Amino acid sequence: MSGHNIGIVGATGAVGLKILKVLDERLKEIKSIRLFASERSAGQKIAFRGRDIVVEDLANSSFKGLDVVFFSAGTEVSVKYCPKAVEAGAVVIDNTNAHRMNPDVPLVVPEANFHALKNHKGLIANPNCSTIQMIVALAPIHRINPIRRIVVATYQSVSGTGLEAIDILKRQSEAMLAGKEIPTGVYPHPIAFNLIPQIDVLLDSGLYREEEKMVRETCKILESDIRVCPTTVRVPVMYCHSESVNIELTRPMQLAEVRDILSKAEDVVLVDDPAKSVYPTPLACEDKDEVFVGRLRVDPSVDNGFNMWIVADNLRRGAATNAVKIYTEMVKHGLL
Ligand code: A2P
Repeated sequence: MSGHNIGIVGATGAVGLKILKVLDERLKEIKSIRLFASERSAGQKIAFRGRDIVVEDLANSSFKGLDVVFFSAGTEVSVKYCPKAVEAGAVVIDNTNAHRMNPDVPLVVPEANFHALKNHKGLIANPNCSTIQMIVALAPIHRINPIRRIVVATYQSVSGTGLEAIDILKRQSEAMLAGKEIPTGVYPHPIAFNLIPQIDVLLDSGLYREEEKMVRETCKILESDIRVCPTTVRVPVMYCHSESVNIELTRPMQLAEVRDILSKAEDVVLVDDPAKSVYPTPLACEDKDEVFVGRLRVDPSVDNGFNMWIVADNLRRGAATNAVKIYTEMVKHGLL
């Protein structure tokens, strides 16, 4: 792979740091790396391949000379700065919700819809973390036997909210165990020893926005009007999202065939021997790039129904790895 000049916006955050790590692991050659954050962390140094890179204040920097820029500094930052980076000549891979539903912006999980990248106009969207891991597991089944309906409940770790949320879970847990007053912040309720069935803001439809993202992004990526019924829940887990997923296929299919498809699917690992308590758990999937599937079984309550349990590292597979994979696939196919 020929080296490029790479930028990361939100480089001091949970996803930004992970993008840097995945780039280090996956790219042999990098011409240069520039790191951007807010003025709060401008001047901070981050080590990369034996040298320190100074974080730049995004508001006072230019994207000139960069070939590709990864954005993960929140939707508002992406709305304002992604167009500037594209104008400066960079290909932008945006991890926020800012542009995902724009018909001119490909929304890509490489294993599912790489072809959508072919007509890109400089801006590419990385889907939501809970959508990505579900799509990696379901796309290979959908290709063979189209999925008509998905019912999904998520169990999402606090790292999806950012570094601040990791900190509040630690501090609330310590306070609870010590019998002290519980610090508040980040979430509307304590997250330690609790479950919060709310992610993002409430919409007129009665869905929270995270749920709406799963509905709309799934249809866009799979180019289908699949009916999706999600409930998204924040859980007191540091890393990795888990999902209980129920699907209804168009045609009857044997369980063995679904298992066979999943066992051959790119980036999917079957961890499925329930009699021996073998199934994926968040702790076991930390810092892994693959999507792990277990508890695969028939759902006898509907026609052509199956259930499964899908776990992946939300910062890696659900964000950084998917974004970097979009980039490396584009380079491989001469699209960048
Ligand atoms: P900073 O460290 O300067 O606040 P997380 O999701 O883990 O909270 O990280 C968010 C990332 O987005 C951080 O790198 C943060 O930088 C960055 N960020 C937040 N707001 C801005 C902004 N207005 N301009 C540039 N970067 C921002």
